[in-house]
Amino acid sequence: MSRTLWSDALGVPHTLDQSALPFERREIALRSSADCEAAIREMRVRGAPLIGAVGAWGLALAIEADPADDALRAAYQRLAAARPTAVNLRWALDRVLRRVAHVPDAQRAALARREATDLCDEDAQCNERIGEQGARLLRMLAEQRSTLAGMAGADGTPLNLLTHCNAGSVATIEHGTALAAVFRLHEQGVPVHVWVDETRPRNQGSLTAWELSERGIAHTVIVDNAGGLLMMQGRVDAVIVGCDRVAANGDVANKIGTYLKALAARDNRLPFYVACPTSSIDVDTADGASIPIEERDAREVTHVAGRLDDGRAVEVRIVPQGSAVANPGFDITPARLVTALVTEHGVCDASRTAIAALMRRVSGAVA
Ligand code: MRU
Repeated sequence: MSRTLWSDALGVPHTLDQSALPFERREIALRSSADCEAAIREMRVRGAPLIGAVGAWGLALAIEADPADDALRAAYQRLAAARPTAVNLRWALDRVLRRVAHVPDAQRAALARREATDLCDEDAQCNERIGEQGARLLRMLAEQRSTLAGMAGADGTPLNLLTHCNAGSVATIEHGTALAAVFRLHEQGVPVHVWVDETRPRNQGSLTAWELSERGIAHTVIVDNAGGLLMMQGRVDAVIVGCDRVAANGDVANKIGTYLKALAARDNRLPFYVACPTSSIDVDTADGASIPIEERDAREVTHVAGRLDDGRAVEVRIVPQGSAVANPGFDITPARLVTALVTEHGVCDASRTAIAALMRRVSGAVA
């Protein structure tokens, strides 16, 4: 599968306009920092790791235009404010900033470009490892389930997973996070079926469904409120989602609606896994209550965008004129509801001590 962000022969980064997916493949060139900022703000790119990567390119392109400290600081602030919840954006901007901070202006552009490129390469490798770790966990679950059912081995009954939002390839540079585990499991020949939450209001579930279709993985799209019933009926074996930020105590910010799935999973004694690159772990944020939650445009709630059968894009109103609307983009799942974090460095409890130990290991490996 190809990458979600790539450079052309002239070194101009390109990506996919996700507002057109899955119906149309439209490429956008990111020629300037302003292009990157707009792509993030308007959700033409989305998903925490990809937002981070485009942010890194945004800062690199700003430095190419003007490498002086003042311009650099202004570009950093503008990009960081484009979307507040996913910490990968700030993490990526900090990486580029650190790379250029102590070098003469004339050397900054090349170094910043190098850092953005490295960050993208590392994201792809990181997600591949998350896929391995997650698939191992899910395979164990499939084996346990077979044993419990007295089937002693595969009988073709799929492992039924439920996911919310899109934590697939297009939310990252390559492979995805939560979906990377599903893709890997499928490649390993373990039968799997995914319940895909449609994920109102932006319907990222249609991206998940599209990515699963492309790989021939069985899936069923459901409305966001169906998961609880399916869990109660024994039709879900585990929930696996991505995330936008994990606080130091293990609380998880992810797409609005995730918390309700975690509650239903706990009530039905089902594992709730969060696939999480360590770049999404923010030890500087004490807990979920301290994570900024993005409030998005009311129009996402009052209107529904879609395609007619002939392919024409339309948007229709579904809420009466004059009704008040709230549109928080993310919610917080408390650490106590998270069975485990699946990272590129292994599976980790969503607890303050386990996270601190993991992050010490990661910084030790990087230093
Ligand atoms: O608003 P979005 O589409 O950027 O939100 C995306 C999510 O919430 C994803 O679950 C998360 O970023 C993980 S993507 C690997």
